Amino acid sequence: MLEEIQKAVREAGKIMLDSHLTEGQIEVKPGHANYVTAYDVAVQKFLSEKLPAILPEAAFLGEEGDGSQKVGKGYTFIVDPIDGTTNFICGYQMSAVSVGLALDGEPVLGVVYNPFREEMYWAEKGKGAFLNGQPLHITDRGLKDGVVCFGTSPYNPEYTDRTFKVMREILPRTMDLRRQGSAALDISYIAAGRNVLFFECKLSPWDYAAAQCILAEAGGVLCTMEGEKTDFNRISSILAGTPTAVKEFLALGL
Ligand code: IPD
Ligand code: CA
Ligand code: CA
Repeated sequence: MLEEIQKAVREAGKIMLDSHLTEGQIEVKPGHANYVTAYDVAVQKFLSEKLPAILPEAAFLGEEGDGSQKVGKGYTFIVDPIDGTTNFICGYQMSAVSVGLALDGEPVLGVVYNPFREEMYWAEKGKGAFLNGQPLHITDRGLKDGVVCFGTSPYNPEYTDRTFKVMREILPRTMDLRRQGSAALDISYIAAGRNVLFFECKLSPWDYAAAQCILAEAGGVLCTMEGEKTDFNRISSILAGTPTAVKEFLALGL
Protein backbone atom coordinates (compact mmCIF):
# COMPACT_ATOMS: atom_id res chain seq x y z
CA MET A 1 0.00 0.00 0.00
CA LEU A 2 2.80 2.44 0.87
CA GLU A 3 4.34 2.12 -2.60
CA GLU A 4 1.01 2.83 -4.27
CA ILE A 5 0.45 5.91 -2.10
CA GLN A 6 3.98 7.13 -2.87
CA LYS A 7 3.33 6.68 -6.58
CA ALA A 8 0.10 8.70 -6.35
CA VAL A 9 1.84 11.44 -4.36
CA ARG A 10 4.69 11.60 -6.89
CA GLU A 11 2.15 11.99 -9.72
CA ALA A 12 0.41 14.71 -7.69
CA GLY A 13 3.78 16.48 -7.38
CA LYS A 14 4.08 16.37 -11.15
CA ILE A 15 0.86 18.42 -11.38
CA MET A 16 2.63 21.08 -9.26
CA LEU A 17 5.79 20.98 -11.36
CA ASP A 18 3.81 21.32 -14.59
CA SER A 19 1.88 24.32 -13.26
CA HIS A 20 1.70 27.63 -15.06
CA LEU A 21 -0.08 29.90 -12.62
CA THR A 22 -1.97 32.85 -13.97
CA GLU A 23 -3.85 35.42 -11.93
CA GLY A 24 -7.24 33.98 -12.80
CA GLN A 25 -6.20 30.70 -11.16
CA ILE A 26 -5.71 32.20 -7.69
CA GLU A 27 -8.72 32.69 -5.43
CA VAL A 28 -8.93 34.26 -1.99
CA LYS A 29 -10.42 32.19 0.84
CA PRO A 30 -11.78 33.73 4.06
CA GLY A 31 -9.08 35.28 6.29
CA HIS A 32 -6.05 37.46 5.60
CA ALA A 33 -3.77 36.26 2.73
CA ASN A 34 -5.56 32.90 2.48
CA TYR A 35 -5.29 31.66 -1.09
CA VAL A 36 -6.27 28.61 -3.07
CA THR A 37 -5.06 27.99 -6.61
CA ALA A 38 -6.47 25.89 -9.41
CA TYR A 39 -3.59 23.49 -8.64
CA ASP A 40 -4.58 22.96 -4.97
CA VAL A 41 -7.99 21.94 -6.32
CA ALA A 42 -6.54 19.81 -9.14
CA VAL A 43 -4.15 17.94 -6.82
CA GLN A 44 -6.92 17.25 -4.31
CA LYS A 45 -9.24 16.01 -7.07
CA PHE A 46 -6.48 13.70 -8.34
CA LEU A 47 -5.76 12.29 -4.86
CA SER A 48 -9.43 11.97 -3.94
CA GLU A 49 -9.77 9.60 -6.91
CA LYS A 50 -6.43 7.73 -6.53
CA LEU A 51 -6.27 7.15 -2.75
CA PRO A 52 -9.71 5.52 -2.26
CA ALA A 53 -8.82 3.13 -5.08
CA ILE A 54 -5.79 2.02 -3.01
CA LEU A 55 -7.71 1.61 0.29
CA PRO A 56 -11.45 1.59 -0.45
CA GLU A 57 -12.55 1.35 3.21
CA ALA A 58 -10.78 4.61 4.10
CA ALA A 59 -12.64 7.91 4.55
CA PHE A 60 -11.12 11.01 2.94
CA LEU A 61 -10.51 14.38 4.62
CA GLY A 62 -8.87 17.01 2.41
CA GLU A 63 -8.24 20.71 2.94
CA GLU A 64 -10.11 21.72 -0.19
CA GLY A 65 -13.27 19.77 0.73
CA ASP A 66 -16.13 20.99 2.88
CA GLY A 67 -14.23 19.93 6.03
CA SER A 68 -17.20 17.96 7.37
CA GLN A 69 -15.44 14.57 7.33
CA LYS A 70 -14.59 13.48 10.91
CA VAL A 71 -11.58 11.32 11.71
CA GLY A 72 -13.25 8.39 13.45
CA LYS A 73 -13.02 4.61 13.69
CA GLY A 74 -11.24 2.80 10.89
CA TYR A 75 -8.99 4.41 8.28
CA THR A 76 -9.05 8.07 7.17
CA PHE A 77 -6.79 9.70 4.61
CA ILE A 78 -5.89 13.23 5.79
CA VAL A 79 -4.69 15.22 2.79
CA ASP A 80 -3.22 18.65 2.17
CA PRO A 81 -2.93 18.79 -1.63
CA ILE A 82 -0.43 21.66 -1.48
CA ASP A 83 1.01 22.66 1.88
CA GLY A 84 2.77 25.97 1.32
CA THR A 85 0.36 27.58 -1.15
CA THR A 86 1.78 31.08 -0.59
CA ASN A 87 5.26 29.72 -1.41
CA PHE A 88 3.78 27.99 -4.47
CA ILE A 89 2.21 31.23 -5.73
CA CYS A 90 5.43 33.18 -5.11
CA GLY A 91 7.78 30.60 -6.68
CA TYR A 92 9.65 29.71 -3.46
CA GLN A 93 9.79 26.00 -4.34
CA MET A 94 9.12 25.10 -0.70
CA SER A 95 5.73 23.38 -0.90
CA ALA A 96 4.63 19.80 -0.46
CA VAL A 97 1.93 17.27 -1.13
CA SER A 98 1.00 15.79 2.25
CA VAL A 99 -0.88 12.51 2.67
CA GLY A 100 -1.47 11.09 6.13
CA LEU A 101 -3.41 7.98 7.09
CA ALA A 102 -5.07 7.61 10.46
CA LEU A 103 -6.40 4.39 12.00
CA ASP A 104 -8.97 4.92 14.77
CA GLY A 105 -7.78 8.54 14.98
CA GLU A 106 -4.06 7.76 15.36
CA PRO A 107 -1.45 8.44 12.64
CA VAL A 108 -0.19 5.22 11.04
CA LEU A 109 1.32 6.38 7.74
CA GLY A 110 2.63 9.63 6.26
CA VAL A 111 4.07 10.77 2.93
CA VAL A 112 5.30 14.35 2.47
CA TYR A 113 6.76 15.24 -0.94
CA ASN A 114 8.42 18.44 -2.12
CA PRO A 115 8.59 17.92 -5.90
CA PHE A 116 10.81 20.97 -6.43
CA ARG A 117 13.63 19.42 -4.38
CA GLU A 118 12.66 15.86 -5.23
CA GLU A 119 12.49 15.09 -1.52
CA MET A 120 10.02 12.47 -0.37
CA TYR A 121 9.65 11.77 3.35
CA TRP A 122 7.65 8.78 4.46
CA ALA A 123 6.92 6.59 7.44
CA GLU A 124 4.70 3.74 8.51
CA LYS A 125 3.99 3.15 12.19
CA GLY A 126 6.53 0.71 13.59
CA LYS A 127 8.55 0.56 10.35
CA GLY A 128 10.71 3.70 10.62
CA ALA A 129 10.96 7.01 8.78
CA PHE A 130 12.81 7.68 5.53
CA LEU A 131 13.90 10.53 3.26
CA ASN A 132 14.36 9.32 -0.32
CA GLY A 133 15.08 5.84 1.07
CA GLN A 134 17.57 6.93 3.75
CA PRO A 135 16.47 6.01 7.32
CA LEU A 136 15.86 9.00 9.60
CA HIS A 137 16.88 8.95 13.28
CA ILE A 138 16.82 12.15 15.29
CA THR A 139 19.83 13.21 17.32
CA ASP A 140 18.30 14.60 20.51
CA ARG A 141 19.69 18.15 20.34
CA GLY A 142 18.39 20.98 22.52
CA LEU A 143 17.33 24.49 21.49
CA LYS A 144 20.81 26.00 21.62
CA ASP A 145 22.15 23.41 19.16
CA GLY A 146 19.66 23.93 16.35
CA VAL A 147 17.38 26.05 14.24
CA VAL A 148 13.74 26.62 15.27
CA CYS A 149 10.96 26.99 12.69
CA PHE A 150 7.60 28.56 13.31
CA GLY A 151 4.35 29.31 11.50
CA THR A 152 2.75 32.72 11.68
CA SER A 153 -0.90 31.54 11.43
CA PRO A 154 -1.35 34.34 8.87
CA TYR A 155 -5.11 33.85 8.43
CA ASN A 156 -5.64 34.13 12.17
CA PRO A 157 -4.38 37.57 13.25
CA GLU A 158 -5.55 36.95 16.83
CA TYR A 159 -2.42 34.77 17.23
CA THR A 160 0.10 37.28 15.87
CA ASP A 161 1.06 38.79 19.25
CA ARG A 162 1.52 35.40 20.89
CA THR A 163 3.62 34.15 17.96
CA PHE A 164 5.98 37.12 18.10
CA LYS A 165 6.21 36.96 21.91
CA VAL A 166 7.27 33.31 21.74
CA MET A 167 9.78 34.09 18.99
CA ARG A 168 11.22 36.96 21.06
CA GLU A 169 11.66 34.67 24.07
CA ILE A 170 13.24 31.74 22.30
CA LEU A 171 15.46 33.44 19.69
CA PRO A 172 18.33 34.01 22.19
CA ARG A 173 18.11 30.34 23.26
CA THR A 174 18.53 28.94 19.70
CA MET A 175 21.01 28.99 16.82
CA ASP A 176 18.41 30.98 14.83
CA LEU A 177 14.78 31.10 13.69
CA ARG A 178 13.26 30.22 10.29
CA ARG A 179 9.81 30.86 8.74
CA GLN A 180 9.73 28.43 5.80
CA GLY A 181 6.03 28.53 4.86
CA SER A 182 5.07 24.85 4.98
CA ALA A 183 4.16 23.22 8.28
CA ALA A 184 4.38 19.73 6.75
CA LEU A 185 7.97 20.38 5.63
CA ASP A 186 8.90 22.20 8.87
CA ILE A 187 7.94 19.08 10.85
CA SER A 188 9.52 16.67 8.35
CA TYR A 189 12.74 18.70 8.55
CA ILE A 190 12.93 17.92 12.29
CA ALA A 191 12.83 14.22 11.37
CA ALA A 192 15.71 14.91 8.94
CA GLY A 193 17.76 16.66 11.67
CA ARG A 194 17.58 20.08 9.96
CA ASN A 195 15.47 21.80 12.68
CA VAL A 196 15.17 21.00 16.36
CA LEU A 197 11.74 22.54 16.95
CA PHE A 198 8.62 23.87 15.21
CA PHE A 199 5.64 25.73 16.64
CA GLU A 200 2.48 27.35 15.29
CA CYS A 201 -0.46 28.74 17.31
CA LYS A 202 -3.19 27.29 15.08
CA LEU A 203 -3.06 24.43 12.58
CA SER A 204 -5.52 22.03 10.97
CA PRO A 205 -5.09 18.22 10.86
CA TRP A 206 -4.06 18.16 7.16
CA ASP A 207 -1.13 20.50 7.94
CA TYR A 208 0.59 17.99 10.25
CA ALA A 209 -1.06 14.52 10.01
CA ALA A 210 1.47 12.98 7.61
CA ALA A 211 4.50 14.70 9.13
CA GLN A 212 3.44 13.62 12.64
CA CYS A 213 3.89 9.97 11.69
CA ILE A 214 7.26 10.70 10.02
CA LEU A 215 8.49 12.63 13.06
CA ALA A 216 7.35 10.00 15.57
CA GLU A 217 9.08 7.23 13.63
CA ALA A 218 12.31 9.28 13.53
CA GLY A 219 12.22 9.66 17.34
CA GLY A 220 10.61 13.11 17.67
CA VAL A 221 7.65 14.41 19.65
CA LEU A 222 4.48 16.29 18.62
CA CYS A 223 1.92 17.85 20.96
CA THR A 224 0.15 21.19 21.43
CA MET A 225 2.09 24.23 22.64
CA GLU A 226 0.66 23.44 26.09
CA GLY A 227 2.08 19.91 25.95
CA GLU A 228 -1.28 18.19 25.37
CA LYS A 229 -1.98 15.28 23.03
CA THR A 230 -3.30 16.47 19.65
CA ASP A 231 -6.61 15.37 18.12
CA PHE A 232 -7.32 15.30 14.36
CA ASN A 233 -10.89 16.46 15.06
CA ARG A 234 -9.72 19.57 16.88
CA ILE A 235 -7.90 22.61 15.47
CA SER A 236 -5.07 23.43 17.89
CA SER A 237 -1.60 24.81 18.30
CA ILE A 238 1.24 22.47 17.34
CA LEU A 239 4.64 22.02 18.94
CA ALA A 240 7.02 19.49 17.39
CA GLY A 241 10.66 18.74 17.97
CA THR A 242 13.38 16.63 19.44
CA PRO A 243 12.42 15.34 22.91
CA THR A 244 14.89 17.73 24.58
CA ALA A 245 13.88 20.84 22.58
CA VAL A 246 10.17 20.18 23.28
CA LYS A 247 10.92 19.73 27.01
CA GLU A 248 12.95 22.98 27.06
CA PHE A 249 10.16 24.88 25.24
CA LEU A 250 7.43 23.63 27.60
CA ALA A 251 9.54 24.50 30.66
CA LEU A 252 9.52 28.15 29.52
CA GLY A 253 5.71 28.21 30.00
CA LEU A 254 5.16 30.52 27.00
C1 IPD B 1 -0.15 26.73 5.56
C2 IPD B 1 1.31 26.43 5.72
C3 IPD B 1 1.94 27.53 6.57
C4 IPD B 1 1.23 27.70 7.89
C5 IPD B 1 -0.25 27.93 7.70
C6 IPD B 1 -0.84 26.78 6.89
P1 IPD B 1 -1.37 26.04 3.30
O1 IPD B 1 -0.78 25.73 4.79
O2 IPD B 1 1.53 25.20 6.35
O3 IPD B 1 3.30 27.26 6.82
O4 IPD B 1 1.78 28.79 8.58
O5 IPD B 1 -0.90 28.01 8.95
O6 IPD B 1 -2.22 27.00 6.71
O7 IPD B 1 -2.45 27.04 3.46
O8 IPD B 1 -0.23 26.52 2.49
O9 IPD B 1 -1.87 24.68 2.93
CA1 CA C 1 -1.54 23.44 4.90
CA1 CA D 1 -3.06 23.54 1.49
